[in-house]
This record gives sequence, C-alpha cells and structure tokens, in this order.
Amino acid sequence: MSTVDLPLLPLGRGTDPSSERGVECPGDLPPASDPDLVERARAAKEALGEKVFVLGHHYQRDEVIQFADVTGDSFKLARDAAARPEAEYIVFCGVHFMAESADILTAPTQKVILPDLAAGCSMADMARLAQVEDAWDALTDAGVVDAVVPVTYMNSSADIKAFCGRHGGAVCTSSNADVALEWAFAQKPDAEDGAKVLFLPDQHLGRNTAVLKMGFELDDCVVWDPRRPNGGNTVEELRAARVILWKGHCSVHGRFSADVVDELRASIPDVQILVHPECTHEVVLKADLVGSTEFIIKTVEAAPPGSSWAIGTELNLVKRLAARHPEQNITFLDKTVCYCSTMNRIDLPHLVWALESLVGGTEVNVIEVDPETEEQAKVALQRMLDLPGRSHRD
Ligand code: 13P
Ligand code: SF4
Repeated sequence: MSTVDLPLLPLGRGTDPSSERGVECPGDLPPASDPDLVERARAAKEALGEKVFVLGHHYQRDEVIQFADVTGDSFKLARDAAARPEAEYIVFCGVHFMAESADILTAPTQKVILPDLAAGCSMADMARLAQVEDAWDALTDAGVVDAVVPVTYMNSSADIKAFCGRHGGAVCTSSNADVALEWAFAQKPDAEDGAKVLFLPDQHLGRNTAVLKMGFELDDCVVWDPRRPNGGNTVEELRAARVILWKGHCSVHGRFSADVVDELRASIPDVQILVHPECTHEVVLKADLVGSTEFIIKTVEAAPPGSSWAIGTELNLVKRLAARHPEQNITFLDKTVCYCSTMNRIDLPHLVWALESLVGGTEVNVIEVDPETEEQAKVALQRMLDLPGRSHRD
C-alpha cells in the first residue's frame, strides 16, 4: 500500500498537479486596496461581452458574486456552462474540481478559467487516485470487489470521477446521492452478500444518505481509512459491509456540532435547524431539514415571514441569505466555524486579474482535463445524468 501524503505547499512555489491545490498567479495581481477594482471588473467584462461567461458558486464572496452571470451549486454551474457554447471563456468562481467538471462538460473549444489556482478543496484532496487504486486492489484481495460499485461525490478530482467511470460507477451530488446509491446497488443483482458501494470521498454524505434515506443501519457501513491496511477493516467486516465510506470530510461542514444545535433550540423559540448533508451524522440527526445548497436556498425563500432558521452551511451563503431575507430570522449554526478558505481564495483582485488578462489577449489559469481522464469521467457523469427519478437540481 502506498502512503500518499499531502506535504504543505509553500505559497508562491508553483502548482501541485496531483492535488486540488496550486498557488501560481503569474502577472500583476491588483492590490486589494485598489479603489477601482469594481469599475475595472465591470469594464473588463463589458469589453469581453458574450465571449465570457462568469459562474459563481453559492459559497463565493459577495464581491465576486456581484459579477456572476449565473450562480448555483457545482452541478448546476457545470450544466449552465455547457448551455453557453457561444462563450469562449468560462470564468469559474468556485474551486478546482468544479472548474474541472465544467471543462469536461463544455465543448473542447471553450476554455475554463479558475481565477486563483489555490482554490482547491480539502475534501477532494482526501481521496487521491493512487490511494483509491490501492483500496480497489485491497478489495480485490479481500474477494469482495466484484460486488462493489464506486460512487463519487461531485466534490472530487477528475481522475477519481474517471476511476468511477472505468469501474462501472457514477458521480452524484448532494441532491441526488440517494438515487445514485439506489442505482449503484441495482448494478450487482447477483452479489452473494448483497451489492456494496464504495462512496468517495465524503463519509458524512455517504453515511447520511445510506442510513437516513435508504434505511441501512450504521453497522452496514464501514469507514475506509486510506492510511491503514484494508482501510482499517478485517476481511470479514468488508464482506459484511454494504457501504464502504471513504474517510474524507468537508473541513467546513464537518465542524458544525450537535451541542450548538441544542443551545440554539434552547435560546431561539421555534428555530428550525437546516443543514447540508456534508455535516456529521450527529448534527444531521438533530436537524429539522437536510439538503443541498440549492435546497437550503429554496427552503428559506419559500418560508413564511417571521420564520427562524439556524443554518449549517458555508458562511458566505448564510450571510447572503440573511441579507436577502430580512423578513426571516436567520442565524449561523456555529460561532467557531469559518468561511471555506479555498472558496475565499477567489477574490475581486483575482477576478479582475483573470478578466483583464483575457482582455489583453492572455489566457491565465486555464483548467484542462487530459482527454483520457475526461472521456472516462464523462462516462461517470453521464450515468448520473441518466439517473431515473427526481431531478438532481431539487
Ligand atoms: P453543493 O453546492 O453541490 O451543495 O456542494 C457543497 C459544497 O461543499 C461545494 O463545495
Ligand atoms: Fe471543499 Fe467543503 Fe470548501 Fe466545499 S465547502 S470546497 S467541500 S472544503
């Protein structure tokens, strides 16, 4: 088994092509103190016209979101990019795996630009291809691999999506994880001890979906720790398991705590707890409503004035919801959880730099998935698009 560590990458020392991280920012980055940044972004966008399409994930800063042509979760944004074939440049204000997915789903002539290459995702970094291939070999040695279907959350690198494509698996998002798991279990009708799913890379989304939406017991799930032989399981445990949860988590959503839920219930009358399924099982068990970023937004929009909400998702989004809905009483679920540091890497100076570079004829920070990875990742993405049942965009 190879141990694949993620050494710290000192700022300003290039990129790390095998991870979600990179730090390169060639050229002149405008200082954040420049009072003309808003005007510069507006002018650059206007000069580029239809050639550029700016996408903004819901977790982006306000200063960036104001320039987004469309906002959404990672899946919606990739679809929106694909629906704009006339745009030569897709400037993706989000994180690296999202830009990769947009590159996979857009035409080869379109270029996807990530304004800061350091906008990676710590969760996606927790499952690296060499580790997942080692796990697959170990599952083969344990004699269970023929019963296993890999399913990866959208929040993973393109090579992990390609791995799933190669091995009969699919991609899912936080809004269709249950439909994807149902599909995956149905792929192995002849498995002796029942089909199994290897769920990558977010153990919490996998566990919450398997237990709370599909009726599995916690005992049906094992955690695969890539740093331990057999993921830290015995062969018997692997044979008995139905869901093998990769030991990854979101460093933002994983920090919300069940104790704070109790405190807020005691201090805010009739508060409803609304959380993202990347939160831990303990937090989700205590919540009133659980759903994707899009679900959280729609729930708040549809609520009657005067409703009280404590929301467990990224702080930029919660603050924006609170500002847009003064008729509601919106609280952040935790005092100690902070912004997603990588989402916040995309700031106005980087956006201005990316747009002005394009105006000047220089393409910066183009995210390009290699053709073989792209083809195999597309297979896994297409399996998700073909999933039966309700929309992935609920
Ligand atoms: P969605 O926006 O797809 O709900 O994902 C949440 C997230 O953590 C994105 O990084
Ligand atoms: Fe990754 Fe979590 Fe940040 Fe999303 S919020 S980019 S999953 S670390």
